[in-house]
Amino acid sequence: MSDKIRIGVLNSGGDCPGLNAVIHGVTGAAHQLGWEVVGFRDGFEGLLPPGNHMMLDPIKTAGIAKLGGTILGTVNKGHFVSIIGKDNVQRVPSEIMDQAKATLERLDVRALIVVGGDGSLTTALQIQKEGIPVVGVPKTIDNDLEATAMTFGFDSAITAVVDALDRLNTTADSHKRVMVLEVMGRHAGWIALHGGIAGGADIILVPEIPFTHEKVAEAVLDRERRGYHSTLVVVAEGACPVGGTLTGTDMGGSGQIRLKGVSDAVAYEIEARTGKETRSCILGHLQRGGSPTALDRILGIRFGVKAVSLIKEGLFGHMVSYQSYHVGSVPIEKAVEKLRNVDPNGELVTSAKAIGISFGHP
Ligand code: F6P
Repeated sequence: MSDKIRIGVLNSGGDCPGLNAVIHGVTGAAHQLGWEVVGFRDGFEGLLPPGNHMMLDPIKTAGIAKLGGTILGTVNKGHFVSIIGKDNVQRVPSEIMDQAKATLERLDVRALIVVGGDGSLTTALQIQKEGIPVVGVPKTIDNDLEATAMTFGFDSAITAVVDALDRLNTTADSHKRVMVLEVMGRHAGWIALHGGIAGGADIILVPEIPFTHEKVAEAVLDRERRGYHSTLVVVAEGACPVGGTLTGTDMGGSGQIRLKGVSDAVAYEIEARTGKETRSCILGHLQRGGSPTALDRILGIRFGVKAVSLIKEGLFGHMVSYQSYHVGSVPIEKAVEKLRNVDPNGELVTSAKAIGISFGHP
């Protein structure tokens, strides 16, 4: 066994541009302190015996900050799931926890950095209750954790949305068509809202503002009357018409609907109600893959470095958080309890409306 302090890092849940930047930041900062870093593969699953892990050092992580995905691999299901569906917290089985604890003890890991969303951080807290010190790093491409003003991956996602809208714009203009782009955002419409405003969308539909097909069609016809013969619509995958339900495939036992297809329904209704030729396009995982933007690389590295300093300060059970241009921390317990949703009366929606963007609400 080494005399050096050894810490672990894992990422869990859906991947997100900037994860490798976090790993780079953690590894660099830990090695400056003379610590060793164990990277666990495939999320918490890497904690199961015999322990699927790799030793990380600055040579291994050189140049990874610019890469999308994660060199550690990840899963968003498996043995450690602690939130099923929305707000339904369950305990990870004790025999699984015992196995994870045994792996961490055998590898002499003194503290574990968990990079994940609200579900993974809830699991992290359960691990901490087993006596393993934990610190968290928030990871949500949807940028919907109240406790941090910004998460890495979001800027890369909206950059992909803007790129898609720029491309759809030229073909929409040429054919005088309506183009409907579906983007990620299960409970929160931040990707649709930011991507839509920056990409010049004319109509933005988000989960927080139920829409009606009549109002969406009216907005298209109104544009037509004003001489605009093409229209760009951005719809978040979790947006619903008033009184309607989510569009997607029920995956049975998992309690989650795999969202997909609301753009088809919106496009169909627009064409039926306006007579305008309309096409739909689902951006899907193109907005989650690929290289992180400069902003996400920097944010990821800063979050990784801060996670190591939280361990150094003994601030266990805390999560890195970005507030007012400063990387600080908040207790994980507080951080996971509240998601941040788009405020229908907030400044961003109001600004969008001020430049003529419709949200399709009655
Ligand atoms: O929560 C992040 C998210 O990107 C959602 O917006 C989306 O519904 C989901 O992940 C997709 O997950 P998967 O990779 O399992 O299809």
